[in-house]
Amino acid sequence: MSDLRKIVIDGNEIEVDGAMTLIQACEVAGIEIPRFCYHERLSIAGNCRMCLVEVVGGPPKPAASCAMQVRDLRPGPEGQPPVVKTNSPMVKKAREGVMEFLLIQPPAGLRSVTKAANAIY
Ligand code: FES
Repeated sequence: MSDLRKIVIDGNEIEVDGAMTLIQACEVAGIEIPRFCYHERLSIAGNCRMCLVEVVGGPPKPAASCAMQVRDLRPGPEGQPPVVKTNSPMVKKAREGVMEFLLIQPPAGLRSVTKAANAIY
């Protein structure tokens, strides 16, 4: 049994299964969300925070689109479909912050790979 829900992503209204994550719904809408830890065949880690999007009317902070399902979004006050923005100033600033943090302090696994690569070359 499908649970179809309407959602507006960057101004385009689409109808998707409520069990889909926002990152999957964005793909249906033709929008690619940057990601480091998400893969559709793996369990959701939600660690990298690169996939952040803005949920209008939600908490005043970006949400990890790989870890939030479409059915988790609330409709607008008059029953309008929930609205998600993938390229708002809030989203851009959040993604820049994630990239800056990763470049300043790369994950431990990446540091050891870098050390190993430096030792080889
Ligand atoms: S892709 Fe890593 S937190 Fe969503």
